[in-house]
Amino acid sequence: CVECAIGPSMLASDLSNLSSNAKSVIAAGADELHLDVMDGHFVPNITWGAPVIKCLRKSVGEDAYFDCHMMVSSPSQWVKDIADAGGSRYCFHLEAALTDSNINSSVVELCKLIRSCGMEVGVALKPGTDVSAVRDFVSLVDMVLVMTVEPGFGGQKFMPNMMPKVVHLRDTFPNLNIQVDGGLSPSTIDVAAKAGANSIVAGSAVFKAADKEEVILGLRNTVER
Ligand code: DX5
Ligand code: ZN
Repeated sequence: CVECAIGPSMLASDLSNLSSNAKSVIAAGADELHLDVMDGHFVPNITWGAPVIKCLRKSVGEDAYFDCHMMVSSPSQWVKDIADAGGSRYCFHLEAALTDSNINSSVVELCKLIRSCGMEVGVALKPGTDVSAVRDFVSLVDMVLVMTVEPGFGGQKFMPNMMPKVVHLRDTFPNLNIQVDGGLSPSTIDVAAKAGANSIVAGSAVFKAADKEEVILGLRNTVER
């Protein structure tokens, strides 16, 4: 049975206080920090990159797990920078990796590069990408992220029609870490957990809550049930 992880998406926090917000969710029971890196090209929004992650790492310390969700057009380009900044997992989008011209470009090479830099490997699928596209790469990664909104913005509505992808992956790979990201909250966690997701990203649901600890615990209890 794969372990449950709850990762608050820092994008939903007050970004002028990134560090104190990170510490507050760790204190509230978060297993990892979900850091959404957007380049304004792969997605129509810009957030932050390695320099910000580096400062955050310095401020929260070595123990925190930094789950870097790379919504960038050229995933091979940022591997070293993110590793140097203190990234723990580098989760690239399969759609970007398949067209990345900066690497002689196989997904296999990208996975090797990420590992050689000391990070775990994640691969993400946009809602429109069929789950069959990732099948050949599952053995190379530590986690598959099934997006449950169009990447780019927090606070969107959960897409329950992505659950067949999660079910398929869980049936095929019983020990795989399967992450869901987008619109996860106490009211949508049931279906995601039932489908077989064990790694849960939640932005608005955590940061808009009066009691973050209660929300994180609620999500965890549902997944572990
Ligand atoms: C969307 C990001 C998500 C987002 C989640 O592109 O990948 O991580 O911040 O936020 P919520 O939980 O508010 O949908
Ligand atoms: Zn994300």
